[in-house]
Amino acid sequence: MITADELRGKYLEFFKSKGHAIIPSASLIPEKDESANQETLFITAGMQPLIPYLLGKKHPAGDRLVDVQKCIRTKDIDEVGDNRHLTFFEMLGNWSLGSYFKEDAINWSFEFLTDKKEGLGLDPNRLYVTVFKGEDGIPRDEISIEIWKKIFLDKARIKAEVAGEDEIIKDNIRIIPLGKDDNFWIAGDAGPCGGDTEMFYDVNPEIGKLNGKFSDLVDTFRIIEIWNDVFMEFNKTEDGKYQKLEKPIVDTGMGLERTLKVVNNFDDIFQTDVLEPIIGKIEKMVSSVSIKKLDKLSGDDEYIVPPFDKPSVIAKRIIADHIKAAVFIINDGAIPSKKGRGYVARRLIRRAIVKAHKLGIKYNFTADLAESIFEIYKNIYDFNIITIKEDLENEESSFRSRLEKGLRELYKIIKKYDQNIKPAVRWPPKDIKKVSAYTINAITPKEAFNLYQTYGFPLELINEELAQFALFIDEKEFNEEFKKHQELSRTASAGMFKGGLADSGEMSIKYHTATHLLLAALREILGSDLPAGQAGIYQKGSNITAERLRFDFNYPQKLTEEQIKKVEDLVNEKIQEKIPVEMIEMPKTEALKIAKVSFDPAKYGDVVKVYKIGNFSIELCGGPHVKNTGELGHFKIQKEESSSAGVRRIKAVLE
Ligand code: ALA
Repeated sequence: MITADELRGKYLEFFKSKGHAIIPSASLIPEKDESANQETLFITAGMQPLIPYLLGKKHPAGDRLVDVQKCIRTKDIDEVGDNRHLTFFEMLGNWSLGSYFKEDAINWSFEFLTDKKEGLGLDPNRLYVTVFKGEDGIPRDEISIEIWKKIFLDKARIKAEVAGEDEIIKDNIRIIPLGKDDNFWIAGDAGPCGGDTEMFYDVNPEIGKLNGKFSDLVDTFRIIEIWNDVFMEFNKTEDGKYQKLEKPIVDTGMGLERTLKVVNNFDDIFQTDVLEPIIGKIEKMVSSVSIKKLDKLSGDDEYIVPPFDKPSVIAKRIIADHIKAAVFIINDGAIPSKKGRGYVARRLIRRAIVKAHKLGIKYNFTADLAESIFEIYKNIYDFNIITIKEDLENEESSFRSRLEKGLRELYKIIKKYDQNIKPAVRWPPKDIKKVSAYTINAITPKEAFNLYQTYGFPLELINEELAQFALFIDEKEFNEEFKKHQELSRTASAGMFKGGLADSGEMSIKYHTATHLLLAALREILGSDLPAGQAGIYQKGSNITAERLRFDFNYPQKLTEEQIKKVEDLVNEKIQEKIPVEMIEMPKTEALKIAKVSFDPAKYGDVVKVYKIGNFSIELCGGPHVKNTGELGHFKIQKEESSSAGVRRIKAVLE
């Protein structure tokens, strides 16, 4: 078996040997970037943090880059539970910033996929590729077609042929030209873009020769996409024009979990070592509850839904994926709330809780489950363990206090609409086809709003539950009801979640800069009082919301009022001095000589960002930050308390 740690290592080493510099994963929360057309909620692809460089800015690490980037794709949320979709995943990627183009990119992709020693040793006989067939005045990608033909022939003695308009794969067909919807890649509506070539693997060769329409073979899980090489030649402007890029760019993306599934011959991604231990832990939790306790109406183990898996299996996968995504989102600085990124975290956590509750897990479990996630990634990412567990626990306690009542209320509504539901009857009926025979009814906006407002059920979650009973919420009517109750933000409605605009995030950025000032002030005021043997004050945890900052650091005793006042005054002094905040990218070896680090330096890439606030604070950090400390307003420490043994916690606000 190849593990995730091995795959990451292999990929980075392979591209390092081809002259690429290894760069670290950026935060899941995008940096505000003037060149990006809109601030998306989360990083959805490895290229996103690199957009300025794809558009021509010089990258300090050079013109060949490779990394492993954390990603969140909420648009796939409804697919999670099948054998290959996730909301949180890691993307392996390599980039050419005008250095190499199609020939090298495709050759290296093939080499990495098939080489038995340096690569993954996959069988070229099971490999199929798509290419851009040309559309909207952009011609068919004949160059990639020729490169693929040559590789198949030279490296695998396969005389690869190209599929026709019918997109049928048969005989020697290996190369399938597809249109813009499939083989033209852009993140969102504008930005760097171009045609791509995608690599697919036949995961069931034992059931006979591959034969059929490309899209059917994908939908029936016979072939699975593992890698995408995008050849960016354009920048699409906000008004829809395609401008030629100064230099052609290669942007590639390979899903870590999918690749592990394929290489290890697993049936699904949940068997990989980045998910299996979480599923295992959920299974233990489930097996320790008595089946008799399952809700009659919500127990759903008796029927099979397409594609093939039992609802309880799907539920466990959803719990594992969603709690993992929430852990990473919280770790990168968002906390469950009504708006923006916080709402995404809330929706993921609450959906997982409802699924768990129906499996019989009727106690707080998310913080405990998070332990398995920390363990899986302990060599790769740093976690603010205390913060994450506390945020999960708070969110779960608040939701669970209303959950039983809310579900009862929900079933009351369902029964009102559908007299066929009797408490002891499982639903949907075993013959799933019958479902379509039932009338589809919208519940009233008041009923829907009550479930949302009183019981904390996210709208999408109510809809998901109702859908099983052929009921739904009319979202337009719901939104009108919603507007009537103005205490809630519009952004919490459904549209928000599917990739809409974030709340501005500006306050969070201010708090981030304030955190740097706070740490520097703590060092100055408390540093000399540390007991012998302790080198200095270090960050032990940090959590930022739009409303406050929370900061944990090593210090043996409670701070005196005088110390707190001194720290506060020093931070305010630096704000009043209106110091510019500078960001410098430099080799890690140089950076470590001048900057402080909050995490293990081994986890940063070869080139790092250093944020410098005069000579007061110099830190290795991914950003983002304000441009000048003068933007921060007045800093006030609200609370100083113990966090754990030898660790103090400060909560502070900007007024
Ligand atoms: N940016 C491309 C993708 O995400 C590689 O598929």
